[in-house]
Amino acid sequence: MNTRILPADSAETAKTAAAIIRSGGLVAIPTETVYGLGANGLNPEAVAKIFAAKGRPQDNPLILHISCAEEMERFCQQIPQSAYTLARHFWPGPLTMVLPAKSCVPACTTAGLSTVAVRCPDHPLTRQIIELAGVPIAAPSANISGKPSTTTAQHVLHDHDGRIDAIVDGGPCRVGVESTIVDLTEDPPRLLRPGGITPEQLIAVLGDLTVDKAVTAQIDRDAVVKAPGMKYRHYAPACQVVIVAGSREKAARYIRSHWETGDRVLCFEEELPLYEGCCPLSYGTEADAATLSAGLFSALRELDDPSIRRVYARCPVGGGIAYAVQNRLKKAAAFHIINAEEWV
Ligand code: TXA
Ligand code: MG
Repeated sequence: MNTRILPADSAETAKTAAAIIRSGGLVAIPTETVYGLGANGLNPEAVAKIFAAKGRPQDNPLILHISCAEEMERFCQQIPQSAYTLARHFWPGPLTMVLPAKSCVPACTTAGLSTVAVRCPDHPLTRQIIELAGVPIAAPSANISGKPSTTTAQHVLHDHDGRIDAIVDGGPCRVGVESTIVDLTEDPPRLLRPGGITPEQLIAVLGDLTVDKAVTAQIDRDAVVKAPGMKYRHYAPACQVVIVAGSREKAARYIRSHWETGDRVLCFEEELPLYEGCCPLSYGTEADAATLSAGLFSALRELDDPSIRRVYARCPVGGGIAYAVQNRLKKAAAFHIINAEEWV
C-alpha cells in the first residue's frame, strides 16, 4: 500500500481523508495533542485495522473523536450536567470524557466496556474531516503500541509507511501530550490520565476530582483498571530510562558520576552546560513547562535507538501541564526514579 501524505493547505485534503474514512480505511489525523490513527469508529472492520496497524492489545478501548459537543448525544447516554459544563469550558480541546455508551458504538471500539470515551479535538481540519465523513473517528495515538506518541506527520510515516492509507500533515502538534481523560460515570469525576487540560482547570469547573491510582503509580498487568491503556509500559524508548530527581546540582553530580559510554541525558535547556561530554538532549525549558510537553515525545523518539544503553532523565515538578509531563516520563521510566538528594 502506498501511504499518501495529504497537505493541510490543499482544498482536497479534507474531502479525500473523509472519503477514505467512509470507505473503511485508515487515515492519520493531526490534533492539538498528538497525531491519531483514525478509522470509522462505528465500523468494526475498520476499527480492527487500527488494532492491527498499532499492534494494540484488544482490551484497550479507543477514543471517539466528534466534531462538536452536540454529537455526544449520538454516542452517549445518561449524560450528566457536568459533561455539558466541561464541554462548554474545554471543547474543542484536549479533554476526553468517559460516559455510558449507546448501543450504536461497537464493542471493538469500547473493548467491550459499557462506557465510551469522547473528545472534540481543537484542530479545524480534523473537525472538518469528521463532519464530512459523517461518522465519529476512532483514533488512538498513531504510534506503534508501547512507543512514544507521534507529534509530527514524519513520526507517523516512520511508524506506518506502507501500512495505512494516508497521513494528513497538519504540522507539529501544539500541546504535545495526549488529552486529559475524565471518567464522568463516577461522582466526583475521576481523572484517568492527566493531559492538556490541567487538574487545576478541572477542579475550578467541577469542584472536586478523584485522581485514579494509575496516574501516579505502576499498575500490575493483571489489574482491573478504569483506563486499560494505563497499565501497559508506554511512551518508552527501547533502552532503560531512569529519572533522576533533586536539585540541578545534585542531579548533575549523580548523573555525571554514573554516566558510561552509550548513555544519554534527557534534560532541560537550562541544564545543557552541566552535561557537557555526556550526550545531553534538551526537550524544552524548565521555566516554561509547555515547551517540555511540546518537545517530550520528539525527544523520546530520538532516544529510541538501539545503540543507546540508558537514558538519565530530568523531570519537571509541580502542577499545571508539568503534571502531565511527569506522568508520561514516569511511565516511560516504568517508575524507576532515583533521588539524587539522598545520594552521598
Ligand atoms: O489526545 C488524545 O487523547 C489522543 C488523540 C489522537 O486524540 N488519543 C489518544 O488515544 O491518546 P490512546 O488510544 O492512545 O489513549 C486513549 C486512552 C487509553 O489509555 C484507553 O485505555 C483510554 O483512553 N480509554 C478509552 N476508552 C475508555 C473508556 N471507555 N474508559 C476508560 N478509558 C478509556
Ligand atoms: Mg497512546
